[in-house]
Amino acid sequence: MSSEASKKYIVHPGGKVTGKVRVPGDKSISHRSIMLGSLAEGTTEVTGFLEGEDALATLAVFRGMGVDIIGPDKGKVTIHGVGMHGLKAPTSSLNLGNSGTSMRLLSGLLAGQGFDVTMTGDKSLSSRPMKRVTDPLALMGAKIDTTDGKPPLTLHKTSSLKAIHYDLPMASAQVKSCLLLAGLYAEGKTSVTEPAPTRDHTERMLEGMGYQVEKEGSTVSLVGGGKLTATNIDVPADISSATFFMVAAAIAPGSDITLEHVGVNPTRIGVINILREMGANITLTNEKVTGGEPVADIRIQYAPLKGIRIPEDQVPLAIDEFPALFIAAACAEGQTVLTGAEELRVKESDRIQVMADGLTTLGIDAKPTEDGIVINGGVIGSGEVDSHSDHRIAMSFAIAGLQAGGSIQINDCANVATSFPGFVDLANKVGLQIEEIDG
Ligand code: S3P
Repeated sequence: MSSEASKKYIVHPGGKVTGKVRVPGDKSISHRSIMLGSLAEGTTEVTGFLEGEDALATLAVFRGMGVDIIGPDKGKVTIHGVGMHGLKAPTSSLNLGNSGTSMRLLSGLLAGQGFDVTMTGDKSLSSRPMKRVTDPLALMGAKIDTTDGKPPLTLHKTSSLKAIHYDLPMASAQVKSCLLLAGLYAEGKTSVTEPAPTRDHTERMLEGMGYQVEKEGSTVSLVGGGKLTATNIDVPADISSATFFMVAAAIAPGSDITLEHVGVNPTRIGVINILREMGANITLTNEKVTGGEPVADIRIQYAPLKGIRIPEDQVPLAIDEFPALFIAAACAEGQTVLTGAEELRVKESDRIQVMADGLTTLGIDAKPTEDGIVINGGVIGSGEVDSHSDHRIAMSFAIAGLQAGGSIQINDCANVATSFPGFVDLANKVGLQIEEIDG
């Protein structure tokens, strides 16, 4: 599912970003719309669905389990839900491409089904830790084989799951969601306590579909055996994709850009909080709630940035935004210090090391630490960097071109299509100068 053909970006230096644009739909919410819409009773109409490879991988596997799904067509998807027990055994293994969210959430959702299933992924996904989900699922009675703790995973049919209480060892929405989805099929009350707040899209969507979810402090729980009722889902634009243009405007003098209808769920706005603390000029307008999720238009006008010590409580709230934030730090005056972010080492790539390597190549003083990075703002030069097939690393270095002294070549960019189809066209429309080259 993830792109096999390789792509390079050549980013020409200089420029600024201006205009009003809407970036593609939220990846996390798009995945969940397919998963919960498939299990619901009735027809779920989704608008704003992300037609990126990750969410399309989720859509394809549910079709493979017998769910009638129409679309996507310009972000519209119609899901004819089969109910909690209506999924059929797939005829082959499920290929989830690059998507950690699909594999981890499906581990929980499929653990309680009455069939065996194997899940595979691409090279990056095959190297990502899965014991964080298979260990607690085993406590619930699931029988799952891993490959040295990594994919492929094989889930064996079990007669029943039992509810557990689980204290998450790390702040992870994927693990929390996995256990809640398994909990739908478990006998009794499944509860999860998180060490810090993480994105709560699963909880919100379950509630939107009429499932009772209890929240008390940092613990969320639900009782198995209920049902989901289909509803319409409006997927907001992805703040993680909007981030690239927010950082672009924050580093390039003369910029003024508005990102429309962006999801601003409080568990996702770390990037706004961090950029503001660095001195960025950000205003939110048209704030409203749609389908249980807060959205707003985000306007960002250039203002000089300064380095900061990033508050650790913001880390889970900006977990996918750090590659872009490191570019902001490289363009800021002074030092930026990130700690408490060891999770970045097990994302689509080791984002601490890969960003430090690329920044160093471009002449920035960037020192990786065990759980973060220290970046001294400076002058971005030119050079050739490798994204290690990580979509967010590729897009971050593309944005860096705005402040670079010469061209930047970025290798291995095909996976940008996993989360941000049309990135190059949209970036060039607002003022970047990126050439996309096959091979
Ligand atoms: C996601 C949760 C985060 C995030 C990922 C999407 C989700 O992962 O990095 O891109 O949709 O639940 P973790 O829960 O592993 O931090």
